[in-house]
Amino acid sequence: MKILIVGGAGYIGSHMVKQLAKAGNDVITLDNLSYGYRDAVKYGEFVEGDLGDNEVLDAIFQPGDIDAVMHFAGFIQVGESVTNPSMYYLNNVVNTHTLLDAMLRHNIKNFIFSSTAAIFGEPEYTPIDEKHQKQPINPYGHSKLMIEQILDDYDTAYGLRSTCLRYFNAAGADPDGELGERHVPETHLIPLILQAASGRRADIKIFGDDYPTQDGTCVRDYIHINDLCEAHSLALHRMIEKDQSARYNLGNGKGFSVTEVIDIAKEVSGNDFKVTIEPRRDGDPAVLVADASLAKQELNWQPEFAELKDIVKTAWDWEINFLSKQ
Ligand code: UFG
Repeated sequence: MKILIVGGAGYIGSHMVKQLAKAGNDVITLDNLSYGYRDAVKYGEFVEGDLGDNEVLDAIFQPGDIDAVMHFAGFIQVGESVTNPSMYYLNNVVNTHTLLDAMLRHNIKNFIFSSTAAIFGEPEYTPIDEKHQKQPINPYGHSKLMIEQILDDYDTAYGLRSTCLRYFNAAGADPDGELGERHVPETHLIPLILQAASGRRADIKIFGDDYPTQDGTCVRDYIHINDLCEAHSLALHRMIEKDQSARYNLGNGKGFSVTEVIDIAKEVSGNDFKVTIEPRRDGDPAVLVADASLAKQELNWQPEFAELKDIVKTAWDWEINFLSKQ
């Protein structure tokens, strides 16, 4: 297949590009490099440009040989979405709408969308399945849910098939050591902890130890980046084969508290580091764990990295590799 990866220079997109190319697909990355890195695109063709730019999109779609589009170019910082919602609605909603309409102009009808656990808002129960009510509590979650709504309507009206994958906490790095997480600024727990473990950061701050969980810190469901990408590949094949849209929650189905993640990181790295307790961060639900049974059942998907220790090990190798290049 020939697949366009929008945001292929970012963390998840770059791993997806590699996996699809290794499986023999023809891959094109479109990325404006606002957060991505040119050197993270190790396979296929690269186009520098914006997903909201019709001229760029028409030029990519013109040859008429693209089978599917995967979209990883959303903005992802919850806090920033609260202080600057305009930025989120422009990039995550308006620009995605532009991309979808460009696809329709060129009769491309297969779309895989990076959605998020944030569309569910404060959990009513855990683990969270696809039927859970969807009431986002921040503009980031709203922006992703709006696209899911647009995609439902585009399926009905235009036959544009889509699969929305609601990620819980994507983590880890390419086991070959070629790719990893490089967010600037970094806000995610595991890379921050590992930066503390390697000495790149003075300490790790725990945002709240008074949650109603076993040790008072927030519980999350960490899923390895390659397992996440594998679910995309399986979802794409099923969507094309069945000519059907779908929505899946993706996680390991097992929750780990912030304190447990820190302990695992100490064990994996063999290093001790300073841990401080800070007030709660706004908008953090106490527990977010996925019920991924639908994806397992319909996609025949089975995460390979079931143990958090193994996920953290790949991220630690990436951190060490990064340090060695400084
Ligand atoms: N945390 C800390 N200290 C830190 C960073 C994070 O204690 O320095 C805590 C957070 O408060 C949270 C947990 O670690 O309880 C995980 O935080 P992350 O920022 O790594 O991940 P989130 O669960 O907040 O975010 C993930 C995705 C987002 C998505 C969100 C949906 O990374 O893109 O889930 O709820 F929006």
